[in-house]
Amino acid sequence: MGIHFQTKLVQSDPLIAGALADETSRQQSQIELIASENIVSRAVLDALGHEMTNKTLEGYPGTRFHGGGQFADVAEQAAIDRACELFNCAYANVQPHSGSQANLAVFFALVKPGDRVLSLDLAAGGHLSHGLGANLSGRWFEAHHYGVRRETGVINYDDVEARATELKPNLLIAGGSAYPRVIDFERMAAIAKKIKAHFLVDMAHFAGLVAGGAHPSPIPHADIVTCTTTKTLRGPRGGVILSKDESWRKKLQSSVFPGVQGSIHTQVIAAKAVCFGEALKPEFKVYALQVRANAAALAEILTENGIRVISGGTDTHIVLLDLTPQKMTGREAETILDAANITSNKNPIPFDAANPAKWVGLRLGVAAATTRGFKEQEFRRLGKTIANLLSRKDMEVEKEARQTVEELCGQFPIYAAE
Ligand SMILES: Cc1ncc(COP(=O)(O)O)c(C=O)c1O
Repeated sequence: MGIHFQTKLVQSDPLIAGALADETSRQQSQIELIASENIVSRAVLDALGHEMTNKTLEGYPGTRFHGGGQFADVAEQAAIDRACELFNCAYANVQPHSGSQANLAVFFALVKPGDRVLSLDLAAGGHLSHGLGANLSGRWFEAHHYGVRRETGVINYDDVEARATELKPNLLIAGGSAYPRVIDFERMAAIAKKIKAHFLVDMAHFAGLVAGGAHPSPIPHADIVTCTTTKTLRGPRGGVILSKDESWRKKLQSSVFPGVQGSIHTQVIAAKAVCFGEALKPEFKVYALQVRANAAALAEILTENGIRVISGGTDTHIVLLDLTPQKMTGREAETILDAANITSNKNPIPFDAANPAKWVGLRLGVAAATTRGFKEQEFRRLGKTIANLLSRKDMEVEKEARQTVEELCGQFPIYAAE
């Protein structure tokens, strides 16, 4: 049977069409608080679903290994130029298929198997691609970790300096997936300089805040910065490598291709260009500032209602909860919120158990609901609802919570039919 190019998915594959339609309804009717998620624009979706996906290309614009790349080159060059303008840097590589691939390429460029790396501990908010034992980064490199102060939840910079001085790692890494505070990039850079280590900042989570001027930029301080275009940046799934310094170009270009990747995801690169174009617009600054304000409002209302917030608040889109006083695991909390159509994820908190089933943390992020239009008022209402759910007051609570979620989702619709 031949392929009918014009046949719509609903006709050709009802199972998958049904799953996609159900996913859209789920997103429309749930409040998304997973900190790594966001809601991309129609324009980003248009690029992702474009015929450009058919184009195979290796290499970089102007020096491809295949013909027919002239239009993909336009998209990739725009993505590079816009990323450099957005983050005020001299070098951008927009090809990494994911954040983990971007980090892998940086490892490939900067360190050799067996070299030492020093990064934030996973329970303190680090990321698995920064040297977790089960990840390639932890298998091939000798990874050590620094942590946060137990009393404040803030990075213990004295500990970073002491460990760095003792261990002399080749690479120092800052950034993570559940650290809610601004990192002192200047201090970290000074530590790296003192021990002659390279300094990598992985700003995957807060890149959108940096782009929108709502968070300090690591670019002036780090040798290399990686990020994802998902999360606060509100773009397609994928990674980016940036540097203020042109001198890394040759090494980084060859580390991505042919170092750790082959052909590019052409349509994703077009979508990255769209994402950067959107982030360069003044509206994005408004969004980024609103993300900060919303996260602060959520942290405040939760605290007022008896929920312990790690580090006592947030400087980003992340609000990390410690459910010890509620005698509840993160998994239980996630399930309770899920039943009320609020999506979140269990997470370790600093000094948490190694076993994920015992983690007592719940990570919340406000970026997706901010994109939807929620402001402080909605986050205060939502925060109160979450606190009620987590204190398991009575059976009525879940019913009320579902009602609140339904009202808020109805008030702030997404992907409404035209
Ligand atoms: C800090 C950090 N780095 C890297 C990644 C990995 O990105 P990806 O899932 O695209 O591989 C994440 C993902 O959550 C992250 O939080």
